[in-house]
Amino acid sequence: MRSLAIIPGDGIGPEVIAEGIRVLEAISEISSFSFEAEYFEIGSERYLRNGILITDEEYDALSKKDAIYFGAIGDPRVRPGILEKGILLAMRARFDQYINLRPVRSWHPYVPLKKHFDFNMHFLRENTEDFYIGAGGNLTPGAMEQDMTIRRGLYRLDLSLKAKAEPEDEFGFEIGVLSRKGVERFAEYAIEYAIAHGHHRVTLVDKANVCPSMYGMQRTIFQEKADDKGIEMEYMYVDAMAMAMLIRPHTFGTIAVPNLFGDILTDLGAQLGGGLGMGASGNINPNGVSMFEPIHGSAPDIAGQGKANPFAALMAAKMMLDHLGYAGEAEMLESALTVSLQQNATTPDLGGSLRTSEVTDFVIQQLRH
Ligand code: NAD
Ligand code: IPM
Ligand code: MN
Repeated sequence: MRSLAIIPGDGIGPEVIAEGIRVLEAISEISSFSFEAEYFEIGSERYLRNGILITDEEYDALSKKDAIYFGAIGDPRVRPGILEKGILLAMRARFDQYINLRPVRSWHPYVPLKKHFDFNMHFLRENTEDFYIGAGGNLTPGAMEQDMTIRRGLYRLDLSLKAKAEPEDEFGFEIGVLSRKGVERFAEYAIEYAIAHGHHRVTLVDKANVCPSMYGMQRTIFQEKADDKGIEMEYMYVDAMAMAMLIRPHTFGTIAVPNLFGDILTDLGAQLGGGLGMGASGNINPNGVSMFEPIHGSAPDIAGQGKANPFAALMAAKMMLDHLGYAGEAEMLESALTVSLQQNATTPDLGGSLRTSEVTDFVIQQLRH
């Protein structure tokens, strides 16, 4: 019996997570997989009611689960950053989920490419550092001094930010940080991943030509680790990578990318796979609790209308099954999803005419076949 934490969240989060749970229930009826679910009311509604983001008791309970299944957070009534940093980024950092695995595949023919390519890009987005480290401040007016402590599973970094300017000037800072320890474990994971998946090289995406202090160090460490393992490294600047994803997506296998660029490139990737409703992800801590979620957000523009594509949430459930050691069940689910795409049993964003729950009905029917 697997013990899952369910965090439906905001907007379309609860709509797509409900579909994922239906599918997991269907799988548990026809296989050896079984689970118990504990729901957590983490999200904007509770925050707006009483200002609570995540309590210590919740962190404690979440840390004891076999996995977390997460929908999305984000609410137009809440200032940007509060829920995103206070809930999602807080969990990724607290549970030290340092790899964000985001498969990008040619799932669906509705791709915005001139030519159809079969591609399967394995994005490994570093998930705890870079411009997501949470070190920033505002200088307004005159002078500021701010001490902050950054805690990760690997280290504690005390940082102080001191700045002085003319009183009429105003500045905002967001500091990017990479650590040797953080890059080493990222590189090791990426290289092992490439080898395990039969890829003969790792592509590292960065902007070492503009931010050499961070990304130059990252290149050096990746190259050291790659030389140790006898695997080839390929270096791509992120601007060129965005272009290359459109003209030669099939030439990439394992792609390691720092946090911020990884966020951006994987939305592009999801769209290459048919739409934002297609992208799934796993926030992985190989030694702790991992969290599976669609890469899309709460999509307030379509929430409550039964239009949300559940594919990403269902693929996230598939990744969770794989992670929990149910490879056969994961494969079954992936095949059912593939049939739903082949038969155009999809939501309007993919050109289909089904509602969210009808896509799941179809997938469950396939599973029972
Ligand atoms: P979004 O991903 O929510 O939506 C972008 C566009 O894609 C919208 O037009 C939306 O309708 C469409 N879309 C997204 N998922 C879809 C699906 N499953 N089916 C069909 N269409 C889908 O991004 P946004 O609008 O920039 O952000 C909305 C909120 O979500 C913000 O508060 C943002 O911070 C938050 N957000 C949260 C997460 C997360 O929880 N992981 C991720 C991204 C954004
Ligand atoms: C994602 C989201 C998050 C991110 C936001 C909501 C904090 O865009 O999961 O891709 O930037 O990582
Ligand atoms: Mn994103």
